[in-house]
Amino acid sequence: MANEHGLAKVPYHLAIIMDGNGRWARRRGLPRLAGHRAGTENIRPVLEACVEYGVKILTIWAFSTENWGRPKKEVRGLLRILGDTIDRQLPELHANGVRLRHTGRLDRLPHRLQGKIRDAIALTKNNERITLNVAFDYGGRAEILQAVRRIIEDGIAPEQVDEALFRRYLYTADLPDPDLIIRTSGEFRTSNFMIWQAAYAEYYITPTYWPDFGKEELYQALLDYSQRERRFGLVEAQD
Ligand code: IPE
Ligand code: IPE
Ligand code: MG
Repeated sequence: MANEHGLAKVPYHLAIIMDGNGRWARRRGLPRLAGHRAGTENIRPVLEACVEYGVKILTIWAFSTENWGRPKKEVRGLLRILGDTIDRQLPELHANGVRLRHTGRLDRLPHRLQGKIRDAIALTKNNERITLNVAFDYGGRAEILQAVRRIIEDGIAPEQVDEALFRRYLYTADLPDPDLIIRTSGEFRTSNFMIWQAAYAEYYITPTYWPDFGKEELYQALLDYSQRERRFGLVEAQD
């Protein structure tokens, strides 16, 4: 049975690898940071479209553990853009029922920015319309390593370590795995994104650069997803 948008099923948790800001800017003869600003402006309309289509959790990957290796000016710019965006958009996000969440490491971010993120999470924690999970200083391998370290620190016996226990040690312990992962800018790789959680995610890759990814293309991705058969290692229509 399709919903009012003609979608037979909608991902409960959608994750987006927001890639291609730099190339978007270069194509226009602009500095890379102009691409990051345009990409950031694109989050709001995509978030609104997700609410309309019935997505309950939207994860957006904004900065990877590897992105620290970029030129200092770009890294500083990306940190500034995150802080400015929280300042400018938090009241409206809160008024619109958006619950903010962070995935990744906070401790390497500037102190003021850490405070802003913590305050934004605390302010919006009871909102229920949609969860916007911002992956910033996130890397899948780092996440798995910190889980292993904490399991050892907690003195967990080897025979107690199973998948259910392990996932409780991930940054996403309180979130279901992503159902659909969209990657913009045409790269066919995970680049270290949710490598545990994405074991059975569906992927949708589009050549569109992130700042140009709009509601129509989101709909195409959701339509594509709604027509996929997820088998989880079983066989078709197994009882
Ligand atoms: C994605 O855009 C945003 C971040 C990784 C911070 P890029 O900055 O990777 O853009 P391209 O891939 O160079 O075009
Ligand atoms: C992945 O994009 C990280 C984010 C989108 C935040 P990158 O541009 O860093 O990935 P690679 O270097 O192309 O694999
Ligand atoms: Mg990139």
